[in-house]
Amino acid sequence: MCGIVGYIGNREAYPVIIKGLKRLEYRGYDSAGVVLYDGTGLKLAKTKGKVSDLEEKAAKEISTGGSIGIGHTRWATHGVPNDVNSHPHFSNSGNIAIVHNGIIENYEPLKKELKKRGYTFQSDTDTEVLANLIEDVKKKDNLKIGKAVQVALNQVVGAYAIAVFDKEKPDEIVCARLGSPLAIGVGKDEFFVASDASPFIEYTSNAIYLEDEEMAIISLGKPMKIRKIKDDSLVDPYIQELQINLEQIEKGGYDHFMLKEIYEQPNVITDTYRGRLHANEGLIKMAGIEDNLQKFLNAPRILIIACGTSWHAGLVAEYIFEEFARIPVEVEYASEFRYRNPIINENDVVIAISQSGETADTLAAIKLAKEHGAFVFGVCNVVGSSISRETHAGAYTHAGPEIGVASTKAFTTQITVLTLIALRLAQAKGTLSNSMFHRYLQELELIPEKVSEALETNDVAKAIADIYKDAPNCLYLGRGYNFPVALEGALKLKEISYIHAEGYPAAEMKHGPIALIDEQMPVVIIAPRQEHYDKIVSNIQEIKSRSGKIIAIVTRGDVQVKELADHVIEIPETTDALSPLITTIPLQLLSYHIAVMRGCNVDQPRNLAKSVTVE
Ligand code: F6R
Repeated sequence: MCGIVGYIGNREAYPVIIKGLKRLEYRGYDSAGVVLYDGTGLKLAKTKGKVSDLEEKAAKEISTGGSIGIGHTRWATHGVPNDVNSHPHFSNSGNIAIVHNGIIENYEPLKKELKKRGYTFQSDTDTEVLANLIEDVKKKDNLKIGKAVQVALNQVVGAYAIAVFDKEKPDEIVCARLGSPLAIGVGKDEFFVASDASPFIEYTSNAIYLEDEEMAIISLGKPMKIRKIKDDSLVDPYIQELQINLEQIEKGGYDHFMLKEIYEQPNVITDTYRGRLHANEGLIKMAGIEDNLQKFLNAPRILIIACGTSWHAGLVAEYIFEEFARIPVEVEYASEFRYRNPIINENDVVIAISQSGETADTLAAIKLAKEHGAFVFGVCNVVGSSISRETHAGAYTHAGPEIGVASTKAFTTQITVLTLIALRLAQAKGTLSNSMFHRYLQELELIPEKVSEALETNDVAKAIADIYKDAPNCLYLGRGYNFPVALEGALKLKEISYIHAEGYPAAEMKHGPIALIDEQMPVVIIAPRQEHYDKIVSNIQEIKSRSGKIIAIVTRGDVQVKELADHVIEIPETTDALSPLITTIPLQLLSYHIAVMRGCNVDQPRNLAKSVTVE
């Protein structure tokens, strides 16, 4: 979490940094700050609140000139969000400024030692400890700032992406990463440093992504040097041409990124299967799968590890893999998996799912699985992310940047990729009949069109949102493939509207949650006309007879559920296994409208961050 931006060049640094921080606010938004150097001294402005609050404060407190600076938008880990704990932090001399994304785990013993040596601390942060540690090693051994950063980082345990500026070496920024992402934008006579490329995409499409345990010294007029932090060896900078453009990271006329991303789903699902799904020829072509087909086919089981929405996509995949390819699947929260001494066999295939590709728990679970000799396959959205690099092979979801903190298009594109994999394995194993295989391929090709139709439920979803926007609680129920969709629907509602919501398998209701049902309780039931239709109709009757308010997601033309439900949202028909790609759409819209009507910050819900790079 946290976003960092740095600039060194010939432009005014301040507007570049502010605009960049706004783009990175998805990573954290409880406080923000900037340090600028204008050739005379360091100018600091920082505050609790958003980047817009920082702008107001900076306008009053500092002159914003200068063409070098570093900035930060924070998601608090150590120390409450307040002005003092906001970044940048200074060393005691006031010469060294630092912005940091990550956690210094051994900051307490380091702080104790520094205190003994006379250092004092203003904040409760681990970052201020690092600033003083750098100063201490610099002074002790009379080092230049780059070397001092390197020596200090070798004493640090934890995760970091940092940008460091030293007033005594005012023509350079030192940056480094371990476990948190860091990209360097390489322009003509200018450099940018940022947590991702979005802050500099309009200035340059050339980027270097630092690898773990690498540091770079960027300075004007000198070739950039990238080194390994541990052994000081030089690394050849690999400059990538970025694939994203400015339009993709702007709202494009929508009120919120979340809404834009919901509406992008027909296109991005098409992007996800483009070149992979060949329905007419009856083929699925995915290089990452073909190259490792035997590993998948020989696997006694598939383990899926992920967090949050990605974990929900994993649950959908469990149903699909077992049904299509008859391979046993276990789905685990990465955070549990990594700490519970799991049984991992050499022949197991592990699929790690992550939109950001930076989730700390998922990354750690991957490393654990690799240590046990398992083959790890990544399903990521962000190209070049840590998880995409850490896994043995993988498939990108091609959803484009997802900026709204609540995942929407990531979920549907993850399911699309996983369905393609399951179908390819089923074909190779012969576990699906030829006709079923072809039918699924053709149906998958129609999904974007059906998602577009499902988006037409927007007005109905909005009208229902208006009725239930003040509900304190909400239940989501689904069966089979749509049980994970119920979990996802509940997660969407709670994270952006702060209404307490729970997802359950519909039949599980009578084992407890039914006690919650009364005339105040809205119950969202995913009830398309499919295998368990009669069972779900019975569940609806059970709720109805206890006066619960029923909002049902039904197949267009449904009669039975319509008679029982208080409200229905009608969606196009598809096969059972592919239905999550459609049923989830009205649930996203419902949550979105409820959150907007409650005056919540949809794209930046409280306490959350898009990329959870701390455990
Ligand atoms: C929910 C949401 C989170 C993420 C979770 C995993 O809308 O966005 O639950 O799904 O933090 O993130 P990734 O997929 O980036 O690993």
